Amino acid sequence: MRTIKAKLTLFYALSATITLACLFVAGYVLLESRLIHGLDLLNEAEFDEIQAHLGNDYEHLSTDAIDRRIRETTQYASVLFYVNLHNRKTHDLFYSSNLNRQIIPDVPGQHIYNTSVPHVGELRVAEFVLHGYDVTVGTPLAPIRAEMRIYVEVSLALLAGMLLASIAIGFGLSRVMLQPIRTISATADRIRSDNLSERIPVADVHDEIADLGRLLNQMFDRLEVAFNEVRRFAADASHELKTPLSLVRLQAEKLLVDGRLAPEHEDVMIVLLDEIGRLNRIVDELLFLSRAEAHAIPIETTLQDPRPFLEAFRQDAQVLAEHQNKRFDFICDGDGMAAFNERWLRQVLLNLLTNALNASPVGAAVLLRTQFAGKMWRVSMEDRGPGLPPEQRQRMFERFVRFGNQGDDRGTGLGLAICRSMIELMGGHIHATAGPGDIGLCSVFELPAQPLAHAAAGAPGGAGLRAQQAEPTAAK
Ligand SMILES: Nc1ncnc2c1ncn2[C@@H]1O[C@H](COP(=O)(O)OP(=O)(O)O)[C@@H](O)[C@H]1O
Ligand SMILES: [Mg+2]
Repeated sequence: MRTIKAKLTLFYALSATITLACLFVAGYVLLESRLIHGLDLLNEAEFDEIQAHLGNDYEHLSTDAIDRRIRETTQYASVLFYVNLHNRKTHDLFYSSNLNRQIIPDVPGQHIYNTSVPHVGELRVAEFVLHGYDVTVGTPLAPIRAEMRIYVEVSLALLAGMLLASIAIGFGLSRVMLQPIRTISATADRIRSDNLSERIPVADVHDEIADLGRLLNQMFDRLEVAFNEVRRFAADASHELKTPLSLVRLQAEKLLVDGRLAPEHEDVMIVLLDEIGRLNRIVDELLFLSRAEAHAIPIETTLQDPRPFLEAFRQDAQVLAEHQNKRFDFICDGDGMAAFNERWLRQVLLNLLTNALNASPVGAAVLLRTQFAGKMWRVSMEDRGPGLPPEQRQRMFERFVRFGNQGDDRGTGLGLAICRSMIELMGGHIHATAGPGDIGLCSVFELPAQPLAHAAAGAPGGAGLRAQQAEPTAAK
């Protein structure tokens, strides 16, 4: 019972069914008492009949005559009435013929009661006093019991129907009632840092849900203002830092070039320049990220064959890998055109490669694999390093997130955030998985693409792709 919809449906169905069940029980009690009261009236009427039939002289009649008159009276209604007549003086007992000489059992202290007679069944009995005689008249309860059974059966069927109908109605009602809440949660779910201007549609009424929607919208307004201020601050701060940083760097370089520094000071100056370079890089990256988040970067992608670009990148990557005594392998599958910006893609690949090389043990290989999959061009960078557990793989693309497991401590923690930003600007997405055999890490991104069939028809460069493909592409 986790959802409000289920709770509302159950509540509605139960309350409707229980109300109806109470009505049926009250109806049962009322109907049964009215029917039994009817039997009591019948018994009374039968007693009046017996009294009339016996006549006023019954006290002087012989036993036989009384017996005959009793039989005559009860004969015509032998299915309806069972009669005992008891003479208090002589203790003679008369029976209606349908009783087969059985006595209707007495319930001491009661004049109207239910009892049971063998082979006759349950009776509703009334006792009357006729001067010198006790008259007991009984009428069968079976027809009433049968009626009440039918009543119960019909009620149960109606209750079952009511339960089903009220579940359906309750379900429909709760759906309609919860629709505005679903809209609120869907909209709130869509509002993220890159989509802060969306608002919850609020109806022009003043119910609780509309008020909640308005409250949430006001909260989103405040969040948007705060977010924009933070972004502007990051952008402004990094922009403002650039000029003094460049000046410091220029001055330091000038000091070095002048050659008037003592050798030990020269070393310090080189370290200083190194750190200034690093600061510059961080400022550049922060500026890029804040501008990207503010959608202030024009997206310039071109649909092109990625092979020439990859070939150029492969040469640089091999040099980088060899410099660290590691290998760089490259597998390129399929043909097609991918939409990308060369400068950004190169930076993304360099960031991924640097991370992979940093994580790889000496002598191990980093593998770049590209393939066309449907309307996407998929690129992955695999290494044989220690890898990362799933929760760290989720977080590694956030800003300033570093897990400190790499030998190189010169990183900024912004590389992967930049990668994600650039890939998303180019219309793709990026994530990381465990490497093959659960060894190492595999960073994967996908960019929009056209496989060869479409590409050849739509782009002028497409025809030349096949010739290029004939050459071996895997460099090992
Ligand atoms: N191939 C990899 N294997 C293991 N850990 C990695 C790998 N790539 C990235 N990481 C982890 O993710 C963190 C963030 O990477 P990144 O954003 O490039 O920052 P930086 O490289 O500057 O530390 C790294 O500090 C590292 O802990
Ligand atoms: Mg990095």
